[in-house]
Amino acid sequence: KTALILNGPNLNLLGSREPAVYGSQTLEDVKALCSHACQAQGLLLDFRQSNHEGVLIDAIHEAGLAQAAGTLAGVVLNAGAYTHTSVALHDAIKGAGVRVIELHISNVHARESFRHHSYISPVAKAVMAGFGVSGYALAIQALADMDKAAL
Ligand code: DQA
Repeated sequence: KTALILNGPNLNLLGSREPAVYGSQTLEDVKALCSHACQAQGLLLDFRQSNHEGVLIDAIHEAGLAQAAGTLAGVVLNAGAYTHTSVALHDAIKGAGVRVIELHISNVHARESFRHHSYISPVAKAVMAGFGVSGYALAIQALADMDKAAL
C-alpha cells in the first residue's frame, strides 16, 4: 500500500522559511525522511506539495478512491495555513472518507491565536503538532498501525 504525504502552501520554502520555527531541513530532506519511514513500514511513498487549495482537494478525493480500492493506507496532511481557513478541505476529507493524520511541524497551540483553530482536526483521525519534521516519520508509523488495525 501507499502512504500519501500531502503538504500545503509555503512548505516548498521549508529550510529557508522561518528556520527558528520550522528548522533548517528542506522539503527534499523531509521527503527522504518519509521515504525511510515508509520503507520501514513496507509502504510506498507518494510525496506531494502544492500551494493551491484545489490541487490539495483533488489529491484528497483521489486518496479516498485509492483507500477504498485497498491501495492506500491513508494520508499525512500538513495543510499549512489552509488548516486555519479551509472549509473546502474539511468537506473534502469528510466526503472522501479517507484516513487523515493532521500534522504540523510547529506547535500551533503555542503560536498566534489564529493558528489555534483547525478545520482539519474534526475530520482527522489524529493530530500531531510540535514534533518538528520528525513528526512525519512518527505519523507514517501511526498510519501503518491504524491501517493494519482498520482504525
Ligand atoms: C504549519 C503551521 C501552520 O500554522 C502554518 O500556516 C504552516 C505550517 C506547521 O507545519 O507547523 O504553514 O502547518
